[in-house]
Amino acid sequence: MNLLLKIILIKTLIFLSIVSKADTAPMSEAALRGLEIAQEHCSRCHVVGNENRYSSIETTPSFFGLRAMKDWRIRFTEFYIRPPHPALVNIVDVTERSKKLPAFVSEINLKLDQIDDLISYLEQLKKIDKK
Ligand code: HEC
Repeated sequence: MNLLLKIILIKTLIFLSIVSKADTAPMSEAALRGLEIAQEHCSRCHVVGNENRYSSIETTPSFFGLRAMKDWRIRFTEFYIRPPHPALVNIVDVTERSKKLPAFVSEINLKLDQIDDLISYLEQLKKIDKK
């Protein structure tokens, strides 16, 4: 085998080992809970990860796009008071769902610590974005 081929082969192997390491890097328990919440409650409108990359409402910002914003943490901490969420999200003991708002979509009930889990998930979202 000539030298150049060997170098290319070695570089490929190193690259693959780095990539596979990133793939198997474990998510924290909080992040896993956050992913579950996102898949259950947010994925019907948002792209929340690689799993539903092609199934969501196109005009709704994806979590990847939101995560890239400087103030993503604030946006996710208070997303439930930002439109259109007040009409569909209820945070136990925090928000009081307005009776005037029509429930055209099934309501999302969350607890404050579930928002922390969502943020833990968002924190590591960049790492899994490589498809
Ligand atoms: C019924 C559809 C729908 C569901 C369900 C939904 N969202 Fe949204 N979300 C939207 C739309 C539409 C926007 C864009 C609003 C805008 O740009 O004015 C948005 C925007 C956001 C933003 C950015 C807010 C801002 O002002 O920048 C965040 C953060 C967010 N959503 C988080 C969530 C989370 C977390 C969940 C799940 C718990 C969720 N959303 C569920 C429709 C939805």
